[in-house]
Amino acid sequence: MIKSFKTALCVLMLSALVGCAPDPKSGWGFTLPEGDAERGKATFVALQCNACHTVDGVELDADVSEDVTTVALGGKKGYVVTYGDLVTSIINPSHRFALGYQSDEIQEGEVSKMRSYNDEMTVTQLADLVTFLQQHYQVEIYVPTPFVPYY
Ligand code: HEC
Repeated sequence: MIKSFKTALCVLMLSALVGCAPDPKSGWGFTLPEGDAERGKATFVALQCNACHTVDGVELDADVSEDVTTVALGGKKGYVVTYGDLVTSIINPSHRFALGYQSDEIQEGEVSKMRSYNDEMTVTQLADLVTFLQQHYQVEIYVPTPFVPYY
C-alpha cells in the first residue's frame, strides 16, 4: 500500500517536473551583458535607427530620408518593456509587431518593414541600444475609471 503510494507520488512529482521544464527554444536564462546608455544613443544614430524611429524625451536629428512610418519608441506603456522584448524587436522584428499601427504601415505581408542589422551589429552595440532605449520607457499604472455607486 505504502509502496504504491510512493510510486504514485514519484510519478506525480516527475510529471510536475517535466511540466515545469522550459521549452529548449525558450528565452529562459538569457542575460545580456550590461550596456552603456550614452554609447547606445550614439549607436542609435550611427546605425540610422532614427530614420524610422523617435525616442521619447530624446532630441535626435530626425534622419527622414526613409519613406516609412515613424514608429515611436519609449514613453508610457501599460506593461513593463523588458530587455527581452527590446532585443527580440531589434534582432527578430517580424516575431511580434509594434502595437497601434495599421499593418500595411509597418509590415510587408508577414514581414516587418524594419530592416535587419543582424549581419552588421555587434553584441556590444545591441546591449548598448537596449540599455539606452530601456531608460525611456515608463510603466503607466492602470487606474480604473471610478464609477459612482448606482442605487
Ligand atoms: C527602415 C525603417 C526602420 C529602421 C531603420 C529601424 N526600424 Fe525599428 N522598426 C521599424 C518598424 C516599421 C517597426 C514596427 C514593426 C515591428 O514591430 O517590427 C519597428 C519596430 C521597432 C521596435 C519595437 C517597437 C514596438 O513598439 O514594439 C524597436 C525596439 C525597434 N524597432 C528598434 C530599432 C533600432 C534599435 C533600430 C536601429 C538599430 C531600428 N529599429 C531601425 C522600422 C525601422
